[in-house]
Amino acid sequence: MMKRTKIKALLNAESAMPEIVVKGWVRTKRDSKGFSFLELNDGSCLKNIQTVIDHTPEIEAELAKIGTGASVAIEGELVESPGKGQKWEVRGKSLKLLGEADPETFPLQKKRHSDEFLRGIAHLRPRTNKFGAMFRIRSELAQAIHKFFAEKDFFYVHTPVLTGSDCEGAGEMFRVTCLEHGCKSSIEEDFFGKPAHLTVSGQLEAEMFSLALGDVYTFGPTFRAENSNTPRHVAEFWMIEPEMAFADLADDMDLGEEMIKYLVRHILDNCADDVELFAKWVDKSLMPTLETILENEFIRLPYTEAINVLKKTKKKFEYPVEWGMDLQTEHERFLCEEKFKQPLYVYDYPKTIKPFYMRMNDDNETVAAMDCLVPRIGEIIGGSQREERLDVLHARMKEMDLSEEEYWWYLDSRRFGSVPHAGFGLGFERLLMLVTGVGNIRDAIPFPRTPNHLEF
Ligand code: 4AD
Ligand code: MG
Repeated sequence: MMKRTKIKALLNAESAMPEIVVKGWVRTKRDSKGFSFLELNDGSCLKNIQTVIDHTPEIEAELAKIGTGASVAIEGELVESPGKGQKWEVRGKSLKLLGEADPETFPLQKKRHSDEFLRGIAHLRPRTNKFGAMFRIRSELAQAIHKFFAEKDFFYVHTPVLTGSDCEGAGEMFRVTCLEHGCKSSIEEDFFGKPAHLTVSGQLEAEMFSLALGDVYTFGPTFRAENSNTPRHVAEFWMIEPEMAFADLADDMDLGEEMIKYLVRHILDNCADDVELFAKWVDKSLMPTLETILENEFIRLPYTEAINVLKKTKKKFEYPVEWGMDLQTEHERFLCEEKFKQPLYVYDYPKTIKPFYMRMNDDNETVAAMDCLVPRIGEIIGGSQREERLDVLHARMKEMDLSEEEYWWYLDSRRFGSVPHAGFGLGFERLLMLVTGVGNIRDAIPFPRTPNHLEF
């Protein structure tokens, strides 16, 4: 058999094609007298291609076994479609069933299924329009991120997934071990001879590379064992972490804003059909939200002012507002959805709620930290200028009871040629929520990992 042509290429054809093979999954089958229509999708794009096949005894025997979900190969020609709503269709000359799908048990029926139901069949949901679109956008977005950084001369660093340190100091890490469950062996006998974990962030290692190569980024999976069953948290997620040498907090916020705008623009320009599906069926305010992002400068609001804004409003919050507290999602969403109605940065947070590596401000109370907040999601970026002064870093680590021995290599970078530098982490799935309007992070990652869910 000839090589297949993807449906995307067929639908974008400039002229008719006399001999083609199309392969895909049947979305619908309609039988008429003397011929049948099969709507095929092969995942290459949102749209199906219509195929028309004249009945012969052989083809009829094959058609009898074909229903929604079955996979087929059709040889024929691409011709102009006399039907409405499509330029091209395939006139099939031969039809081959590749894989049956029993209509009694195939879970994807023609009706719309709930997101929750589809999460239970995450191995099949990419075959639906919505999740096909989601994961095409995800792929495009990942590549656009590399393109963005390549255009800005950032280097891509592969930071380790297995780690012996806890970057955020939050203690929400997954242990990694080779020891048998329940065995009495000590950690010294384990693979690394010391406790090992899955990384919560590649930042500390990325910093080492930024202090050598200048501008770098990592983009990889990160793991958090926080037991937060929310629509915005998963235990395994992907994070983009740029790190810039000779840069301060303002440069950091500039980069985050430029990056988000670039990526939104890229997706609108390159995934129009897929984005349109979300704008039509998932979030009617998606397009205005994305346009607001593109057209406005992100607001930059010091934490202390943000607290004042939250204190002044009549709105009642579940968590009472006071200086020194960490902003909760309800506060973040109020600020960007109700007060300012656009993305904003909150910066200069109290040192007491932030990790040791953030740069101390002159007030000795706040650190040069920033979070970027966006409508519907809240925090999408968390970053900071890093403490580059060895003595201040020492003092902070002491204050927070961190072992200097364990961080000897991190401290070395401040001993030898330290420079001001800054970076941030952007949650990839949250970015996908932003550009598609889906309300649950579990629908933005192929196989979500959450408390008590490790299927697939
Ligand atoms: O604010 P976070 O914890 O920052 C860091 O990890 C820094 N070390 C990053 C850096 O400066 N290089 O996480 C960064 C972003 C958050 O803003 C959020 O978008 C995402 O990562 N994130 C999560 N996404 C999904 N599920 C979770 N459990 C997440 N935790 C954080
Ligand atoms: Mg954060």
